[in-house]
Amino acid sequence: MSELVIAIDGPAGAGKSTVSKLVAQRLRLSFLDTGAMYRAIALKARRAGLTPADGERAAELGERTEIAFGVGDPQPVYLDGEEVTTQIRVPEIGEFASALSVHPPVRRLLQKRQREIVARGGVVLEGRDTTTVVAPHAQVRVFLTASLEERARRRCAELQAKGQDASFEGVLREIEERDRRDSTREDSPLVHAPDVTELVTDGLSIDEVVDRVIALVPPKTR
Ligand code: DC
Repeated sequence: MSELVIAIDGPAGAGKSTVSKLVAQRLRLSFLDTGAMYRAIALKARRAGLTPADGERAAELGERTEIAFGVGDPQPVYLDGEEVTTQIRVPEIGEFASALSVHPPVRRLLQKRQREIVARGGVVLEGRDTTTVVAPHAQVRVFLTASLEERARRRCAELQAKGQDASFEGVLREIEERDRRDSTREDSPLVHAPDVTELVTDGLSIDEVVDRVIALVPPKTR
């Protein structure tokens, strides 16, 4: 069993999910999408009639919630045994998750569960705070980023490919707002820690980005 842990951090739309999944496949590691856990709790909280301001109650609800992942692409996500893979991907749930994720009780709960998964090793994990809080001792830590326009273009194409309505201007504004909120929250904000390798992906193909991440893996841990 591999001990290798690769943490990939960065803002919305930088390609964290796509790149992390491919790195995991190539190195035969498991893949942990930490954002999916925030999204799953957001879905449950919204169904329960909570607002994103109800951090305390959302965390209580989360204590009694089972979040599980299956195998596949897209990776199936189960909320208390119900498959919610596509339901958690709509923009409203992303917004709700971002707003809910500012609350320390919600973060503590999910960070604890994420650390338990990381402790088993052999994992690529992605999400804002993975290089700084969840897996600060990972052998490979990458801050994946791209210009705001590039990220909006990619997110727009992704949504359109799924048949969802998306205007470039609207997506750009949403990403800008999400960046602002994720970076300015007090508890474990999105930050580029000085000792984390920055990878700017403008103009790079997905394969080139994946190759660059894999090149960072120390040879004896591969
Ligand atoms: O990566 P994503 O878009 O699926 O994440 C949705 C929201 O969840 C994101 O805007 C902020 C929050 N999140 C977080 O606070 N910490 C993480 N490690 C992952 C996601």
